[in-house]
Amino acid sequence: MKKLIKNDIYWVGKIDWELRRFHGEELSTHKGSSYNSYLIKGEKTVLIDTVWLPYAKEFVENLKSEIDLNSIDYIIVNHGEVDHSGSLVELMKYIPNTPIYCTANAVKSLKGQYHQDWNFHIVKTGDKLDIGNGRELMFIEMAMLHWPDSMATYLTKDNILFSNDTFGQHLASDRLFNDLVDKCDLMSEAMKYYANIINPYAAILKKKLNEIASFNLPIEIIATSHGIIWRDRPMEIIEKYTEWCSDYQENQVSIIYDTMWNGTKTLAEKIAEGISLENPDLKVKVFNRARCDESDLIVETFKSKMIVIGSPTVGNNMIHGMAGFLNLVKEAKFRNKKAVAFGCYGWSGEAVKIINEMLRSANFEVISDGFRNQWNLDATTEELAIEFGKQIAKEV
Ligand code: FEO
Repeated sequence: MKKLIKNDIYWVGKIDWELRRFHGEELSTHKGSSYNSYLIKGEKTVLIDTVWLPYAKEFVENLKSEIDLNSIDYIIVNHGEVDHSGSLVELMKYIPNTPIYCTANAVKSLKGQYHQDWNFHIVKTGDKLDIGNGRELMFIEMAMLHWPDSMATYLTKDNILFSNDTFGQHLASDRLFNDLVDKCDLMSEAMKYYANIINPYAAILKKKLNEIASFNLPIEIIATSHGIIWRDRPMEIIEKYTEWCSDYQENQVSIIYDTMWNGTKTLAEKIAEGISLENPDLKVKVFNRARCDESDLIVETFKSKMIVIGSPTVGNNMIHGMAGFLNLVKEAKFRNKKAVAFGCYGWSGEAVKIINEMLRSANFEVISDGFRNQWNLDATTEELAIEFGKQIAKEV
């Protein structure tokens, strides 16, 4: 079902209500998502992006019910990832010669995935395509936001930025616009999307936001490729991204631990107590990693000034799940954050040192050798753990 965006511009995407994992099993999407495709039905008919492969037939059937596919003059592929390009093979069966406008890298990603030699037209930043009615599409390369092939497309006169993944959120809703949905839900999903997907490229994003600002384009609508469209004060999400890509922090410390027999759990709680005693204004959150969603923990890490990572020693190492999580933390490429390790052990006790090494390799400033406790806490070591928490609060 198509939905009107503005004038002769329609949403023709797919709402994926049941999606709970994305990028394979890597990312949680508790509230579903959508794959936003857009149709401009002007003097020229233009399709911007498609939808994920499993919905290809449904997408093309819906499109056929709206227009004669042969009337599509141009297809714009802002990004080759399968959630946006996945319906091209089905669509191009009907209109194999229709020109596809995309970046040079998108030609590589599309050919690499679909092994088709479509009628590609390579575009670069500043290139324009006249679509009649006094309107042009202007292309803006968005390399590494978040793939090398990404770009955004700006529609003049209607002042719409089709931003693809950037500014998106995994949020399924039949309310298409940001003034129609719960703002807390929206901003929380926008931050989760940013922290997990865009943050590794924060430095590139910062330059790109400045470049886009230098074009002085009036932006009335930001039409993303996932979730909700920003039409009410669209610059607000650009301002948020500017804030988020500038070493964002809240006044928070996150303690994230794994535990086998609750020794490291008890230690985590004593450390939290020490932090709160030393600085009651500092927000302390405590998470058992194994019982939390790791994509959500990446958001908590994003918000934190410091993370305190705990694991008991098992097999001369940390618990394997924590090693996987720290890999994820490293991938997120956080900057300007501190960290330290802790953990209980029975015999050899290597985990704390190994965690600290991983935190350093993930670009965290590690504030000390950490806190190790052999066997369970007693009254003396409880006090030491509380003191360790107080030291953390002083270092934040
Ligand atoms: Fe939503 Fe990078 O694809």
